Amino acid sequence: MDVKELKNIVNQLMGNGKGLLAMDESVATCNKRFEALGIPQTEEYRRKYRELIVTTPGLETYISGAILFQETIRQTTEDGTLFIDILIKKGIIPGIKVDQGTVPMPAFPGEKVTEGLDGLRERLIDYYQKGARFAKWRAVIAIDHGIPTTSCIKANAYLLARYAALCQECGSVPIVEPEVLMDDNHTFEKCAEVTTEVLHALFNALYQQRVNLECMILKPNMILSGLDFRTQDDAGAIAEATVTCFLRCVPAAVPGIAFLSGGQAFEQASERLNAMHVKFGDIMPWTLTFSFSRAIQQPALEAWKGDDQQIAIAQRLLLHRGTCNAAARRGEYTNALEAHEG
Ligand code: 13P
Repeated sequence: MDVKELKNIVNQLMGNGKGLLAMDESVATCNKRFEALGIPQTEEYRRKYRELIVTTPGLETYISGAILFQETIRQTTEDGTLFIDILIKKGIIPGIKVDQGTVPMPAFPGEKVTEGLDGLRERLIDYYQKGARFAKWRAVIAIDHGIPTTSCIKANAYLLARYAALCQECGSVPIVEPEVLMDDNHTFEKCAEVTTEVLHALFNALYQQRVNLECMILKPNMILSGLDFRTQDDAGAIAEATVTCFLRCVPAAVPGIAFLSGGQAFEQASERLNAMHVKFGDIMPWTLTFSFSRAIQQPALEAWKGDDQQIAIAQRLLLHRGTCNAAARRGEYTNALEAHEG
């Protein structure tokens, strides 16, 4: 493991007031989002959409790293330039989703484990040669009657830790994503309880697998009630519960935490990240930023809808979310800033 090089990558990803752009939706997920907007679900339209994203002028002002999907890493712009080369030229570090999705966990109804360890070392070496310098693996933990079970939490923690160890061996910084899903109608307190258990299991597994904590990034959920729960707490309460949970569970050796958005409205995701910085900016031992997909892309996708005439406006909207989230990362996000573009 080249610790110096891995730390250098982490510093570039986390150390400059920026955040990460997750553009690693699988074919199925991307198609689902296209279908909802009437966009043709073809490889060419997925390519066009990703071209729109990577060629957004000024993207690098707010984005330090972009997470690609296996289809996207070999795709090019209309004129034949690899997306990965465009990102590198802009100073945006390319990363790659390397898990192969979730499958039902046998004998544990309603729970899932993530696949993708088979052949991972070879794929990591290949992606490194293509220019990727970090990777992502997402585990999902659902809350429902009687779940999550300890078995599911431990199985996913083990898989995340094995993945992270392999990444570090192959020169890529692992983004470790244990997502407690916000679907359903669970309470805020339940989310806090489950997220706490998941993070303890995860850091125990990372220790067992000898993962270097200084050379990884955690990508967690915020502490939130389920989307169907009757009330949603305000940003201050969410900030308080989320940072308190992390202070208890995430070692100070971890250099960076970059949130997923998980289905929150995009303004809420910014407002909540902002509240964490306003309340806890001085005492957090880790860099706290964003690694959103939906909460950064959705306005742009809705504006584009597959129409070439809308590319410029979609790119402006994408950049605007970058501006808002980078401001939130400094604790400087305001309604006035939000309203400024759109
Ligand atoms: P969302 O921000 O849409 O939750 O996506 C983040 C991500 O990368 C999920 O794996």
